[in-house]
Amino acid sequence: MKTTFSLRIIIPIAVFFSLITFSYGQSVVNERAKWFVDARFGMFIHWGVYSGAEGVWKGEVLRNDNNYAEWIQYRNGIEKNEYLNLLERFNWNEINPEEWVILAKESGMKYVVLTAKHHDGFALWDSKASNYNITEHTNPPRDILKELAIACQKHGLRMGIYYSHWLDWEHEYGWDHSKEVTGITNEDYDRYWQDKVIPQMRELMSEYGPIDLVWFDMWIHHSRTVVSKEQLIQLKGLIRELQPNCLINSRLGLSIDEDSDVDFHEMGDNQIGNQMRDFPWQSPATVSHSWGFHRKDTDWKSTTSLLHSLINNVSLNGNYLLNIGPRANGEVPYEIEKRLHEIGKWLKVNGESIYGCKAFDLPKDLHDWGKITSKKTDTGTVLYLHLFNYPLGNQLFLDGVTSRPTRIYILADSLKRPLEYTHNGASTTIILPDHAPDPFVSVIALEYSGKPQISDGLVAKNMDGGYSLLPWNITGSRDPLKIINKQRGGTVPSHIVINEQTKLKWNIYVDEPCSKTIDVSYSYQGATERNTIVLRAAGKEISHKVSATGKTVGEPNSDWIIDNFKSHRLGTINFSKAGYYEIELEIKPEKNENIKFQWVWVN
Ligand code: GLC
Repeated sequence: MKTTFSLRIIIPIAVFFSLITFSYGQSVVNERAKWFVDARFGMFIHWGVYSGAEGVWKGEVLRNDNNYAEWIQYRNGIEKNEYLNLLERFNWNEINPEEWVILAKESGMKYVVLTAKHHDGFALWDSKASNYNITEHTNPPRDILKELAIACQKHGLRMGIYYSHWLDWEHEYGWDHSKEVTGITNEDYDRYWQDKVIPQMRELMSEYGPIDLVWFDMWIHHSRTVVSKEQLIQLKGLIRELQPNCLINSRLGLSIDEDSDVDFHEMGDNQIGNQMRDFPWQSPATVSHSWGFHRKDTDWKSTTSLLHSLINNVSLNGNYLLNIGPRANGEVPYEIEKRLHEIGKWLKVNGESIYGCKAFDLPKDLHDWGKITSKKTDTGTVLYLHLFNYPLGNQLFLDGVTSRPTRIYILADSLKRPLEYTHNGASTTIILPDHAPDPFVSVIALEYSGKPQISDGLVAKNMDGGYSLLPWNITGSRDPLKIINKQRGGTVPSHIVINEQTKLKWNIYVDEPCSKTIDVSYSYQGATERNTIVLRAAGKEISHKVSATGKTVGEPNSDWIIDNFKSHRLGTINFSKAGYYEIELEIKPEKNENIKFQWVWVN
């Protein structure tokens, strides 16, 4: 009685505190997710009975172009009893989950998420609620989840569980997509839920030590599925009751908007972030395409591109959960292991720019050399510039930060030898070594006292030192502009069609007195010579008569005739002193004429 009473008090208090949000670089991170946003990088493990098939069943490759090997039972219509025969291909003497954990640690990953129960319904632990589990089929009996949990504790990694709640191809009343044809009643589906999902989650939350995260996998909203909101709330309530610190992802089937008690947003498969978010989020990603090992899947992403994805996400406040699909002998495919080790080596040197880092206030694609992450320190802030592209000349331009850095160095340099730089207004120019210090991504650290201030709304110099003035980086709202995206494989570039007098404005910062040439690219298909384009900047005005740009051919013999876009020199503008300048372009088509505007290049 006493225990029940105290638990009743403790649980609401714990829940109350866990809901207090605090500013941790992201404005909406609840207390229990603090470790998660610090960690940034985790390991997903897809391993189960399907690993024995490797994407091929009775000589036939998986029946779906989206070759997710863990779907083979459903896709190729394998009977339950035959499916388990795949376990004969496993080498139980070699399978050692601790090796996966060690690999995660060596790769710089801070948490591990194992497919405890995937869609096939087979539990990788000693489940009392269902004998469709690994312990029943191994001799001596194995509990892979327990082994993994112990290894995580031993090596200091956080432990997460993937649990397929919506789909279960094994249980009589579980969901598989073909039930759309055969039908199932809500009552029957609830039998599965109460008979398997709830008791299994109770086991997982009670018998495996602290579970830091549950990864559910319903990738559409519950209203479009057989699962009811009540069932989801029951499941979430059970986790909150038994392990109040455990995180729950949005693929539970409830969006964060609908239920702010969901801890983080899960992106689509291999969907990398494209916008900054204030609450925690994560991209699940593969090294090739399939999650479970598929022997015909050879779409290996390069180490560089995997690192770019990780860095991209951190620069937008997100996490990256990278998958390994071990084989039926426990072995991690060489192509995965090699890349993970390379990432681990990179993180050993550059991890400071990832762990505990967050987005910086500048627009995400402002600089064409790469991405920025930031971190608060006791004395100020560090900005980490990740060079996805290393400048050909040895100058790196950072535009938009008005504070002067106190020190700049290559993060990989343990002596932190200062790099030469100049800072003026909103522009910092850093002198780099001639060759990239890192073969994948070099990182330059800039220290500031306090929070670096920014100047918003500028167009930054590109790597060549010029300014690309485009329809989508104008000052002010782009809404009235109808931007036409590139067409015909990009042979028709992005542009806007201007058929009435239009003024476009951009702001740039020029860091020393100079003269710059101005070019404009457009397409004009008319015949008159009466349309004009006027450019105004630094108190000067240049007027240009629009001339016909003609047609061009994209590919031979395929009727691929398109409007040509051509660059025209407008003239030169003298910027007599360093400072902020507005550049205005006025396009004046005559009645019934139109000009397709592409860009202005200031160099
Ligand atoms: C999809 C697949 C599943 C995989 C998951 C990982 O939802 O159905 O097989 O585990 O993506 O994100």
